[in-house]
Amino acid sequence: MKPIILTGDRPTGPLHIGHYVGSLKNRFDFQDTYKQYLLIADSQAMTDNFERPELVHENVTQVALDYLAVGLDPKKSTFFIQSQIPELCEMMFYFMNLVTVARVQRNPTIKEEIKQKSLEESLPVGFFCYPISQAADILAFDADVVPVGEDQNPMIEQTNEIARKFNLVYKVKCFKDVKSIVGKIGRLPGTDGKAKMSKSLGNAIMLGDTADQIKKKVNAMFTDPNHLRIEDPGSVEGNVVFMFLDYFDPDKAGLEELKAHYRRGGLGDGQIKKRLIEIMDALIAPMRERRLQYAVDLGYVKQVLTDGTQEARQVAAKKMDQMKHAMKLIY
Ligand code: TRP
Repeated sequence: MKPIILTGDRPTGPLHIGHYVGSLKNRFDFQDTYKQYLLIADSQAMTDNFERPELVHENVTQVALDYLAVGLDPKKSTFFIQSQIPELCEMMFYFMNLVTVARVQRNPTIKEEIKQKSLEESLPVGFFCYPISQAADILAFDADVVPVGEDQNPMIEQTNEIARKFNLVYKVKCFKDVKSIVGKIGRLPGTDGKAKMSKSLGNAIMLGDTADQIKKKVNAMFTDPNHLRIEDPGSVEGNVVFMFLDYFDPDKAGLEELKAHYRRGGLGDGQIKKRLIEIMDALIAPMRERRLQYAVDLGYVKQVLTDGTQEARQVAAKKMDQMKHAMKLIY
């Protein structure tokens, strides 16, 4: 039996190359060695987008297209839609008894999000409870590992606390500990050099971008503001083009030479951008093609989601049944 891995995305927009380097690429590598569940977390997306149901609805398909675009294979990984598995809500309801308000308030991830979204004064209970919902996502599938960004680590800790508490209170071994794998790669900055790449900030290279869009975005990147003439020595540190080359240039030795040349002077911004454009396009082109190919066959995408959700629901229902036995909710 393969170990079980589970990850998820809130469907609030199509995915970009930040998601690719941070997580999608790993998922592609995991799909042969793990039983992989890919959760499209539309219910969780509703916790902070409940007034924008169209946005969440549309992006479920977009995220599924992105999965297919990067080569995730529905025969190997199970794609599924959170909201279509009512057992996940049911689990969450019982888990809520095992968590104090004070404990959720101390969860650094939710604390930070509350601050970011200025929700201190009007915090919806639903949003506040999403860490508990996320614990249900993970525990329903007996996940062994959950790959997460660093900011999501407290979610895994909280999940394990809930699992242990359930086992302890109801004297069962319903849940095992789950481990997180935190990506080694730091977060890819936006094309504007800002810390976070995000579609809404307009600084993202999307998995479906055309060659032209890639070219425009790379050409608009900041380099070194003091590198005015080609002969001038240039700085590599803080230079967005080099930051991206560090992530994506497969020829590390060539890149070191390029950096040395840039530092010495005599290398134009146009040349380093040209190199980055070629590299980005080589990476994106096959994704773009696959994405287009599936986008004209939405019936297939829908079928993938329906089948995956059906399979996932059976797994979650079995776990819910175990939980009900443990809690004596069987009549
Ligand atoms: N919180 C994750 C995000 O914002 C999405 C998510 C929902 C998730 N449920 C999950 C991730 C379970 C890992 C495991 O992207």
